[in-house]
Amino acid sequence: MTKKQLNESVAHLINKGFDKPEIGIVLGTGLGKLVDEISDPIEAHYNHIPFFPLATVEFHTGKLVFGTIEERKVVVMQGRFHLYEGYDFLDITYPIRVMHMLGIKQLFISNAAGAINLDFKKGDIMLIEDHINLQGGSPLAFKNVSEFGERFTDMSEPYNLDMRKKLEKIALDQNISLQKGVYASVVGPQLETKAEYRMLKILGADAVGMSTVPEVIVANHLGLPIVAVSVLTDECDPDNLKPVEIAEIIAIAEDTEPKMVRLFRELIKLL
Ligand code: HPA
Repeated sequence: MTKKQLNESVAHLINKGFDKPEIGIVLGTGLGKLVDEISDPIEAHYNHIPFFPLATVEFHTGKLVFGTIEERKVVVMQGRFHLYEGYDFLDITYPIRVMHMLGIKQLFISNAAGAINLDFKKGDIMLIEDHINLQGGSPLAFKNVSEFGERFTDMSEPYNLDMRKKLEKIALDQNISLQKGVYASVVGPQLETKAEYRMLKILGADAVGMSTVPEVIVANHLGLPIVAVSVLTDECDPDNLKPVEIAEIIAIAEDTEPKMVRLFRELIKLL
């Protein structure tokens, strides 16, 4: 990754009409429908943006969509890149740097995750308050990182407190129950063993998933305020573990999606 490459990606998008978005939004697995809420959308498929990570076949639908929601200019990532697809930490966080260079001032992130905290149920939404990086690496561990910002990025409050409070208030007003907790990121793509679920609980995780943390680290590197939510798609109970079907995970995410869309839409209004 070089600044020249980033400049070319950004120039391509500006050329297409991506005109100074204020808010960037990353949509997780099964959570892509927020793009239907965008007025006057302009789409850029990942494969057509210079220097974007090359999309895999199963990932051909991935795109950036620019437009307005609640009169605010947004850029939405429908589909993200994961380590488990064979990308590296720089690839999967490249779009965050691009959105930042386009001008976003805030970042919303969503993901599908398993519930480690068994007080939480599938179909619940969890506001991420903090995280544990179990992916064995960092998107800031590269040679010329200092050209891009502070190498030793502070992570004492990675998820913006003000945006979290606003989202909690919205959830109350909208009658949406919102859990709160710690998200642990693993590489995947295999799901966890019973022993791993027990370990994650002992470590202090409330949810586990395969994304988000690298994006959050880079956003902190860039000084971008973040709000992130997990849609809980399965209950990770080591004493009653049933085989998990990825199709079921996606179905639960899709069923829960309207609540998430409402939360994000109301938050856009408030910012
Ligand atoms: N583990 C890891 N990632 C996940 C899970 C899980 O149980 N559910 C959804 N994403």
